Amino acid sequence: MEYRLATRAAALQPSATIAAAQKARELKAKGVHVYDFSLGEPDFDTPEHIRAAAEKAIREGKTHYTPSSGIPELREAVARRYAERGVRYAPNEVVISNGAKHALHNVFSVLCEPGDVVLVPTPFWVSYKALVQLSGATPRLIETSPASGFKMTPEQLEAALSDDVRAIILNSPCNPSGAVYTRAELLALADVLADTDVVIVSDEIYEDLVYDGDYAPPLASLREDLRQRTVTVSGVSKSFAMTGWRIGWSAAPRPITEAIERLQSQQTSNPCSISQYAALAAVTGEQACVAEMRAEFARRRALVGEKLAAIPGVRATQPDGAFYFFIAIDEYLGRSFGGQPVRNSVEFCTACLEQAHVALVPGIAFGVEGYVRLSFAASVQELEAGLDALGRFLASAS
Ligand SMILES: Cc1ncc(COP(=O)(O)O)c(C=O)c1O
Repeated sequence: MEYRLATRAAALQPSATIAAAQKARELKAKGVHVYDFSLGEPDFDTPEHIRAAAEKAIREGKTHYTPSSGIPELREAVARRYAERGVRYAPNEVVISNGAKHALHNVFSVLCEPGDVVLVPTPFWVSYKALVQLSGATPRLIETSPASGFKMTPEQLEAALSDDVRAIILNSPCNPSGAVYTRAELLALADVLADTDVVIVSDEIYEDLVYDGDYAPPLASLREDLRQRTVTVSGVSKSFAMTGWRIGWSAAPRPITEAIERLQSQQTSNPCSISQYAALAAVTGEQACVAEMRAEFARRRALVGEKLAAIPGVRATQPDGAFYFFIAIDEYLGRSFGGQPVRNSVEFCTACLEQAHVALVPGIAFGVEGYVRLSFAASVQELEAGLDALGRFLASAS
């Protein structure tokens, strides 16, 4: 029998970061030690008090369906968390979903349709393009440059606007560049949108991983008009080392949230009940664990920064947030490694994995050629040895 797939499904590419991690896993399965810097998740275990809350939820039989938009306690806790961070959301403006990725899927599904355009600044998180396309809308890329720290300027935003633009994605702190927009930069961008109905989808999943201060203030907290035009997306995955638990959320004015509620009720129902109780413990419990993980990431950031600075021909600025270095390797393109010609970031990462056993993600997966992404969610020993291996690999270029 011949299976005919929907065009929508046939056109979908697998997530590039997941594909890179898979290649590394295959090598590991052969017994090779891989310095795996391709991962987009904290390497820490979920803190003990959060795991205990999940065990308690299981013992207490919290194993049934919950309201499809999430347990009221968690929606309230998320709203309180935002109030502490300067923006008031009612609990019924928050929907708990299966991770921030699901929340983003919901948002584009209720906002966009064929004919709409969504502005996506580059470099972008790998799934944005596919998520926008699944809604029927078309992504329009805005190319940022290292000169502006990979931040979009108001002039670039202005130039990208047209009547069919429905939404724009802002991701600060950014995966992969680590860029964090300042308050003034965000307000300048907001001013460009003042006379439009463009919705800002603000992906703040790395909000707690900033290296100057405790958190990046929510975009919606900066001004009331911004609260009205913003859909805030975040979750517990990165802040609390809870990627596998799959809890994220959206917070938005009621007309958007109400549509998301209806969609989620038909599509997935509630996210895992046990994970929701774990997330409740994360959001309402002691926050020292977040500060400890941030401090450890800061140590690693310094180490990687020093090591990269000592490698000739690569350029990388220190990230202000998240746990990635976005490294320019263009000086090595067009050269050969172990007789293997390397013309682009994909070939670079393949050669680097095969020859140095260092796993990185090609920049093109984030829409920018000539770069690779290195995740420092790995132990200090791994980072030290892996960066030495990367240095030797680069030195072998002919
Ligand atoms: C920028 C960005 N947004 C969203 C997500 C998805 O988060 P979650 O695991 O909560 O779905 C990720 C995960 O890598 C990310 O890097």
